Amino acid sequence: DQNSSDPHLPLQWPDGLVLVGKEDDIKNSQRITAKVNGREVVVFYHEGKFHALDSRCYHEGGPLNLGEIEDIAGQPCIVCPWHKYVITLETGEGLYEGINPLEPSPTPRWQSKGVKQRIHKVTVNNGNVYVSPPDLSVSFDSDYFADKYKNNGDLAV
Ligand code: FES
Repeated sequence: DQNSSDPHLPLQWPDGLVLVGKEDDIKNSQRITAKVNGREVVVFYHEGKFHALDSRCYHEGGPLNLGEIEDIAGQPCIVCPWHKYVITLETGEGLYEGINPLEPSPTPRWQSKGVKQRIHKVTVNNGNVYVSPPDLSVSFDSDYFADKYKNNGDLAV
């Protein structure tokens, strides 16, 4: 198609999808950062799937692009490098280990705080990877830091 062959065309498709990279490149590097409508987004390739999230942690804006991926309670999660908050790649839920003091022998269990980190839809087409622009009619905790770091030049560490 014409869009992908001319590097001078804007990296924006009519329906708003933003080209963030080549499928093969992201599969090799396993993660990239990109700007989507001015906000910092991290795209992970993990166990055969692409996941895109706001790159700034909903807690205090830590760089999730520098975190480790761990499987927690059966779900792939990114662990924020700053204070080790755990966020599911699939849904953006914040997980915490809590105990129920009413149980006879309370054991810590992973529980969800709900969706805290905005996730972004990823589309792979013809060897290219696209991220959909965010639906800002719904808000998430990570929006605060996405706005704070918006259009801020290089992704900070
Ligand atoms: Fe991510 Fe605190 S900023 S855990």
